[in-house]
Amino acid sequence: MQEFQTNKADITQHRLVETPINTIGNGEVLVKIDRFAFTANNITYAVMGDQLRYWQFFPPNGDEAQKWGIIPVWGFADVIESNSNELPIGERLFGYFPPANELVIKPAKVTPASLIDGSAHRAELPPSYNMYQRVNHEPGYDRANDDQRMLLFVLHLTAFCLHDLLKSNDWFGAEQVVIISASSKTSTGLAYGLSDDKNAPQVVGLTSDRNIDFVNSMDAYDSVLSYDRLEQIDASKATVIVDMSANTDVLSRLHTHLGDNMRYTCNVGLTHWDEPRQVEGIIQARSQQFFAPSYIQQRMKDWGSDEFNKRSMSYVMKSSAKTNAWLNIKQLDGINGLSEVYEDVCDGKIAPDEGLVVVM
Ligand SMILES: NC(=O)c1ccc[n+]([C@@H]2O[C@H](COP(=O)([O-])OP(=O)(O)OC[C@H]3O[C@@H](n4cnc5c(N)ncnc54)[C@H](OP(=O)(O)O)[C@@H]3O)[C@@H](O)[C@H]2O)c1
Repeated sequence: MQEFQTNKADITQHRLVETPINTIGNGEVLVKIDRFAFTANNITYAVMGDQLRYWQFFPPNGDEAQKWGIIPVWGFADVIESNSNELPIGERLFGYFPPANELVIKPAKVTPASLIDGSAHRAELPPSYNMYQRVNHEPGYDRANDDQRMLLFVLHLTAFCLHDLLKSNDWFGAEQVVIISASSKTSTGLAYGLSDDKNAPQVVGLTSDRNIDFVNSMDAYDSVLSYDRLEQIDASKATVIVDMSANTDVLSRLHTHLGDNMRYTCNVGLTHWDEPRQVEGIIQARSQQFFAPSYIQQRMKDWGSDEFNKRSMSYVMKSSAKTNAWLNIKQLDGINGLSEVYEDVCDGKIAPDEGLVVVM
C-alpha cells in the first residue's frame, strides 16, 4: 500500500510512501480507491495547498510528514470493510480521494444518493469537497462512463457556475468574453456553454502557440489567438475576462490594452502557476477571485439543491458530450504511473485533448 506525496515547498518534487494497514473504528468504512483523474486542476490544489487548506483533507504518512502534502483527486472507490449500518460493503462512491490505495471514511448525513465524510479533520473544509455520491443508487449508472465523469464533472460544474455568474450579471455589460488558457477543460466547458447561449456575447479564446490548432479545431470559440497576439483583440468593445491561467504578464497586457473597456475579470485558475507574479498594469478594482465550492453553496441556498442539480446536470451533460467527441483518455498504471507523468503535468506538457486517468 502506498500514497503519492508532494513536497509543499517545491510542488514539482514528489515521493511514494508505504502506508500502514488501515483499521476502522466504530461507524467507519474502509474504501479501496479504484481510479482517479489528474489535470492542471490538481496542480492548483497543490499550489494553493496552504492558502485554501487543500493539504488538510488527507494527512500524509511517513518521515518528515509536515514537509509533505497529499493532493486531493476526483475519483471512484469501493467500500471493502464496513462498521457502518448505513453503508455496506460493495457501495461505490464518487468524490474526493487521496492518490493512494485506501481511505478511511466516517459516513455522516447518509441519504440514498450521498453522504459526507464526518471525520473531525474535515469538519471545517468546504462541504462540496466532503460529499460522496453513492453511484450504485443512481438510475442508469454505468461504469463505462466513470473516466469521463472523473475528468469532466467537476471542471464543467465550475464552467456551469461561471456561465451562470456572467449571465446573471448581464455579462457585466460586455460585448465579448475573453477566456485565458482556452485549451483547459474548464475553459472549453465554459466556451461550449456560451456558444449554446443565444444571448451570450462573442467568445475569444487565448492560448499558447502550441495549443492554438487544437483550440481552433474544437469549434467552441468565435475566435482564437495566441498569447503573443492578444493585442489584436478589439479594444473598442466592452469585455469580460475569465482567467484560468493567473499569468500576470498576459493579464496586465490585456488590461492595459482594454483599459476602461475591461469591465470585469474573474480570476478562476492558476494553470500558469510557475510564471513570475507581478501586479503592475492589472486592474485590481474590477478583478475578483472565483471559488466554485462557495458559488455552489450560495446557488444551492438560492435555488434549493434539487433545482441546482437539475440545471447544472443539464449543462454538464451537454458540455461533456461535446468534449467526449475529442477527449483521448489515457490510462496510467497506478501511482507509479502517476509518478512518471507528474512533472509533465506540472510543466503543462500534457496534450490538451488528453485526459489522464490513474487506474489503481
Ligand atoms: N476557482 C475554482 O473554483 C476552480 C474550479 C475548477 C477549476 N479551476 C481551475 O481551472 C484551471 C484549469 O483546470 P483544468 O483541470 O481544466 O486544466 P487542464 O484541462 O489540465 O488544462 C491544461 C492546459 O492548461 C495550460 N497549462 C497547464 N499547465 C501549464 C504550465 N505549467 N504552463 C503553461 N500552461 C499550462 C495549458 O493551456 P493553454 O496553453 O491554453 O494556456 C494546458 O493545455 C486550473 O487552474 C483549475 O484549478 C478553478
